[in-house]
Amino acid sequence: MRQMILVAFLQAQNCTNFAASWRHPQSRTDSTTPEFYRDIARILEEGRFHIGFFDDRLAMPDMYGGNHEHAVEGGIRCVKMDPVTVLMTMGMCTERLGLGSTYSTTYYEPFHVARVFQTLDLMSNGRAAWNIVTSLNDGEAMNMGRVEVIEHDARYDRADEFMEIVLGHWNAWEADAILNDKAGNRFADPKKVHRLDYEGRYFRSRGPFTVPRSPQGHPVLIQAGQSGRGQRFAARWAEVVFVAYPTIEIARTEYASLKRQISEHGRDPDRVSVCALTHIVVAETRAEAEDRRALIDRLPTDLDQLSLLAEALNFDFATRGLDEPLTDADLAGMQGIQGIRDRVVEASGKRNPTPREFMHFSGRGLLHNPWVGSGADVADIMEEWFVTGACDGFVIAASHVPGAYADFVKYVVPELQRRGLHRTEYAGATLRENLGLEPPTPGLWHLPMPDGGHG
Ligand SMILES: Cc1cc2nc3c(=O)[nH]c(=O)nc-3n(C[C@H](O)[C@H](O)[C@H](O)COP(=O)(O)O)c2cc1C
Repeated sequence: MRQMILVAFLQAQNCTNFAASWRHPQSRTDSTTPEFYRDIARILEEGRFHIGFFDDRLAMPDMYGGNHEHAVEGGIRCVKMDPVTVLMTMGMCTERLGLGSTYSTTYYEPFHVARVFQTLDLMSNGRAAWNIVTSLNDGEAMNMGRVEVIEHDARYDRADEFMEIVLGHWNAWEADAILNDKAGNRFADPKKVHRLDYEGRYFRSRGPFTVPRSPQGHPVLIQAGQSGRGQRFAARWAEVVFVAYPTIEIARTEYASLKRQISEHGRDPDRVSVCALTHIVVAETRAEAEDRRALIDRLPTDLDQLSLLAEALNFDFATRGLDEPLTDADLAGMQGIQGIRDRVVEASGKRNPTPREFMHFSGRGLLHNPWVGSGADVADIMEEWFVTGACDGFVIAASHVPGAYADFVKYVVPELQRRGLHRTEYAGATLRENLGLEPPTPGLWHLPMPDGGHG
């Protein structure tokens, strides 16, 4: 029987992706200690989650008002530790939980990323996954020594080359390359360790790669591009795709389209899992869950919303009054996630919405459209999405940590298991085995795009 994939949407920061989470009465205050992440990891493994996954961004939100003071004072995603290092602490107290993290193709070198994740894969006995992001905002660019803004589609062309290098290096050591022949003085067979000699338009990398193959071949590839170009990139490379679908109807259409694109790349769409982002507020009873939701809704501040809008749209909302309509030029200049701007214009019915309307209609900084109820209520919604062609699994975000995951494991997981929708035991030792993925096939990544080009 087909079973769902469960991913926890984690942040190595002072809050979850819901910035107000740190103000929740049950939020722990030790989010810069290993104990905090180990406790989360144990909860996730007890719930048989497939992956604990960290998102990442290489800057704090400091666009609003042109400085970081409000973000630091209000705790708006201002602490961001290196997620792979945090994953190691989680890997050391678990046996089967997959360990995933975002790393940027814009700000790191492919050799470095290949080495970091292949090392994590070896140190976790084959449980690593990498979320490939091309993301770019001004704060990240300034922190990482870049000034040039790379145009959207070109970022993905660059990322295609990045992937060819990373996968090339991951395939450098054949599975039986290491001999450990002490008497014969042969550590490894040089004929089975290959140099890449890659020279592309954007990147070059020679090799040979310095980290041998891992028990699952190489880390699992995750991608979360939402644009047309982003989806084509995901269809070519990803083994797990993260999506954010606003309704089940839209989800069914988009899911079918993504699966079609995967087939067009000559790949088996059943071997690529599409996981939908969701917030869940669950308790023993529906009434109790609704009370919890009411408490959560009181936590965000106007500044949370305005700061995160400024970060996402690369526009300083502090330069305008809360009820002052933005000008055509303001709107045209918004360079970040333009989908947010377009959604606000459409939903407000205003050509020139005010900052307050941006806050209201974007829902940014709020716990957006959570699924609220008892374990059975939430399982009903998840079941409907899963069995009616809306997704293969879920990326579950938290209103506070670790409590939101503890509640999910206590109330929803047993309900899903009773229905046969979620496993009671891990299928194997490696993440690939647990996701039902085949061992990686060297060379398959060379498949061209359907339009004949490489990207
Ligand atoms: C579940 C999920 C997790 C994501 N994690 C990250 C992340 O860690 N860092 C990031 O910059 N973008 C993240 N994104 C955003 C996407 O990777 C992507 O950058 C964004 O949707 C814009 O892509 P597009 O230009 O193809 O539309 C995430 C998206 C989703 C749905």
